[in-house]
Order: sequence, then structure tokens, then C-alpha cells
Amino acid sequence: MNTKSKFAIEVAHLTVSYNARPALLDVSVNIEADQLVGVIGPNGAGKSTFIKAVLGFVKPDLGTVRIAGSNAQNAKGLVAYVPQRGAVDWDFPITVKEVALMGRYQKIPWYSSPGKKDWETAMEALKMVRMEEFSDRQIGELSGGQQQRVFMARALAQGSNILLLDEPFAGVDAATERAILEVLDRAKKSGKTLVVVHHDLSTAAEYFDKLLLIKQRLYAYGEPTAVLQEDLLSQVYEGRLRIFKDIVKKENT
Ligand SMILES: Nc1ncnc2c1ncn2[C@@H]1O[C@H](COP(=O)(O)OP(=O)(O)OP(=O)(O)O)[C@@H](O)[C@H]1O
Ligand SMILES: [Mg+2]
Repeated sequence: MNTKSKFAIEVAHLTVSYNARPALLDVSVNIEADQLVGVIGPNGAGKSTFIKAVLGFVKPDLGTVRIAGSNAQNAKGLVAYVPQRGAVDWDFPITVKEVALMGRYQKIPWYSSPGKKDWETAMEALKMVRMEEFSDRQIGELSGGQQQRVFMARALAQGSNILLLDEPFAGVDAATERAILEVLDRAKKSGKTLVVVHHDLSTAAEYFDKLLLIKQRLYAYGEPTAVLQEDLLSQVYEGRLRIFKDIVKKENT
């Protein structure tokens, strides 16, 4: 049995390379349980790679990942994942409720097919993201924001305590962004830990309990006001600081 660790995710000296070029270098961070954490950094900073390394989808050159106090290898099923939108084939012929049901597959033995309980869990997850009335539609027929919510339902149906989401707010309108944020907040209140890649620094402090600032290396992890500091942001975002000066001002007033 697992005693619940204080930390949902413990990453130590994580180094990940593609074709001998490091995307992440010596990243160490401990993420507390029951937090809504935003991962920020410029394009190519290694945000998606960080998420994939925590999931065990990419193999590190060096370093370790522990999930809820256990080796990542023993943690399968403890972590659910919502991929970056571009990584999904939306023309695949599958209905909304079947996508949500996919969250149950790890829990269904190989000799069995999904039971009534699995379908119920899938439908409950669709309700949580307010997509139940679309359950019989093809996923390809939905808007980007609706597809994003269905993928969140798939992750919720898995029943994992840790959810990793790669840019859930990308390409959605303001109303959908609110709806997704509400789902994240509710998931947090129900005891889940969420790690969310996020692009918009102007909302980062409002949305998240903690921020993780990354560009190949870890630059900062902590309360948004501690992370959204001009010197840190100027190192990470270089020439684009002018925009962020306003954000820093806003955060500190
Ligand atoms: N499969 C891959 N093969 C080779 N290089 C890769 C691969 N995936 C990522 N990279 C490289 O690793 C670095 C980090 O990529 P990653 O996708 O983790 O960045 P990101 O912070 O998620 O960027 P974005 O904001 O654009 O999504 C980039 O230089 C990228 O080109
Ligand atoms: Mg990415």
C-alpha cells in the first residue's frame, strides 16, 4: 500500500535529450500534492518534454522521477495526461463518449470489455466538463474548446490523482477558458494535483497556486509573485521583456 507522500511529483537531476541535444538539463523540483501548478516558459523551453518525462513517455539521460512517493515505473495509472491539441488526430472516427471511455482502459482487464460501471464513469466525467449532451457526436465534429474538454473528461475518467495537461487553454475562447479553469479548480478541490502547461503570463498568477518557470533548466518554482520577477523573466524570455514589465507591475500592485 502507498502511504500518501507529501509530494505528488519528485523530480531530481532530470536531463532529457533529443539527438544528443538536451531539452532539459539537471531539473530538480518537488511538487506538493493538491496544488494547481502552471508550467511556463517560451516556445521550445522543454515544457512538453517535462510533462512527457514525468509520464515516462521519454527516457531521461539522467535523473529520476517519483510519483506519489513511488518509482515512476510503479506509478502507471496514478497519472493522467491531456496532450497538446496538435498531437491528436481529430479525424479518427470515434464518438465523444468513446473518447471518455478510453480513460477506463487501464482499469479493464484484457479478457474483459468495458462494463456498465466504466460507461457510467465515462459519462460522469463528461458531465464534469459539461459535455454530456455531446456524448454521441463524433469527436471530429466538435470545436477546439469542446474537444479539449472531452480530452479532460478522458483524463478524469481514469480516476488518477495527478493530472498533467499540455496547454489546455490554447486556441479556446474566453468562455471556454473559464469553463476549463473551473474544471481544473473543481478537480483540485476534489484532491487532485494538476500540472498545467500555460502560455499566458498575464493570467498565470490568477490561475495557479504555484508556477514552474523553465527554459532547459529550472529557473524558479514557487508562489506566482516569487516567480513572476522581472530579472527571472528577462533571463528566460530575453528580448520580449517589455510586455512582461507590465505584468510584473500588475502582479506587484
Ligand atoms: N521528438 C523530438 N525530437 C527532436 N527534438 C525534439 C522532440 N521534441 C521536442 N524536441 C526539441 O526539444 C526542445 C523542447 O521541446 P518541447 O516540445 O518540450 O518544448 P515546449 O516548451 O513544449 O515548446 P512549445 O511551447 O512550443 O510547445 C525543442 O528544442 C524541440 O525542438
Ligand atoms: Mg509544448
